[in-house]
Amino acid sequence: MKKIGQKILDDAEIYVMKTAKSSPLDWFFELHQKEIMISANKLLKEYPDADKNVVLLSCWLHDLGHFKAKTLDQVDVVKPDHHLVGAKMAKKFLSKYKLPKDQVDKIINCILCHRGSEPYIPKTLEEKIVAVADTLSHFQSIFYLLFFKIYPKYSLDEFVVLQKAKLKRDWRDLSLLPKAQEMVENKYDFFLQMLDDYQKGTVD
Ligand SMILES: [Fe+2]
Ligand SMILES: [Fe+2]
Repeated sequence: MKKIGQKILDDAEIYVMKTAKSSPLDWFFELHQKEIMISANKLLKEYPDADKNVVLLSCWLHDLGHFKAKTLDQVDVVKPDHHLVGAKMAKKFLSKYKLPKDQVDKIINCILCHRGSEPYIPKTLEEKIVAVADTLSHFQSIFYLLFFKIYPKYSLDEFVVLQKAKLKRDWRDLSLLPKAQEMVENKYDFFLQMLDDYQKGTVD
């Protein structure tokens, strides 16, 4: 039986990066892919019982559904179903490699569950790591500062309300793996403090 090896991981990286180029947010997804891979590798060190290659391959393929958007206006239209569409695209990509069915099923389930939206709630360790790595990626570099580049029409006050809600949702989602919150507690507190300070009007 074939196993997931470096070749398929490398192929997935090339395929995802090429597909991302068809998206109006290609720059964001290139950054996001780097950040989720770093996050996943950090989590895999904390949770060594997980199937590493299933996690890494799922992370490469998890957001393929976003690339159905061909204009900026379509970005939010494809978003709600991108886990479903992405799972289908990933299945097609994986079919070339004749992997064992249970491995393919695990990857597809990781992709379906990465948003944690009903009825696809992460249950296995691999599903939880992919979902948490996706959220943890937001704490990897400048995600929370990119809002106006992606949504230039919002006001500053709207930005603060929306990002505060997003930050709190992300913090809640990290609780799926307790060690994940510990890893970024300082950054969470810092971002939240900045947003709170703005709302209180204490910025000079
Ligand atoms: Fe996603
Ligand atoms: Fe993602």
